[in-house]
Amino acid sequence: MTRNPLVFIVLGAGLSAASAFLMLQMFGDGAVATGWALDATARVSFAFWFLTFIARPLNAVKRSEGSKKLVSLRRQFGIAFASAHIVHAYFIVQIAALVPADFPPARFVPGGFVYLLILLMFATSFDRTAKVMPGRSWQYLHRTGQWVIALAFLNSSLQGIFIPDHNRLTHMVLAALVIAAIGLRAYVWQGQRKRRQAA
Ligand code: HEM
Repeated sequence: MTRNPLVFIVLGAGLSAASAFLMLQMFGDGAVATGWALDATARVSFAFWFLTFIARPLNAVKRSEGSKKLVSLRRQFGIAFASAHIVHAYFIVQIAALVPADFPPARFVPGGFVYLLILLMFATSFDRTAKVMPGRSWQYLHRTGQWVIALAFLNSSLQGIFIPDHNRLTHMVLAALVIAAIGLRAYVWQGQRKRRQAA
């Protein structure tokens, strides 16, 4: 399988844009349709992020050809995630222009911070740019970013469960996936800690 980052940029942004296009075709082009487009782009980026987040713990718990492949393609899936999420940003701008009253500046603060991290992670996910990061700063940025993104997805899926008329089951499944992935990571980390203590 190719590792060319450009392929994964096109894959992430392309799938995200295609999912939004489908929503706009189905629901028209007003604020409601743009809301659906936002949800669709977020789901595509969720899928790519989820692969990056479970790759290492999955490989630690049950090593297989598939899990090894997943680990080796983590950076590429991260690039696809960020590309898909840039399309999400495009539709945020669209919906904010359609219903400005729903988008006061304060609404952009927490998500804007997550976007800043996503953009920094994206910018440092290429061989040349990763090398520029001094010391262990690359690890710090990407580890912190991964957890912040996990919490952002957990937050949006948990919120979706409690919004009336939202698809509750979908949000429960998404929240369960994030919680399971966090649980798997905690389980692997605990095992590694015990082994280190025993050594
Ligand atoms: C300034 C930043 C952001 C703004 C203003 C924003 C806004 C929105 C809006 C308006 C929706 C549609 C909600 C609806 O269905 O009515 C949405 C959906 C979503 N966003 Fe964002 N977003 C931001 C950043 C992010 C980030 C950083 C993430 C995760 C890393 C994220 C994840 C999601 C998810 C998962 C959904 C789908 C929610 C659902 O299924 O109901 N968003 N966003």
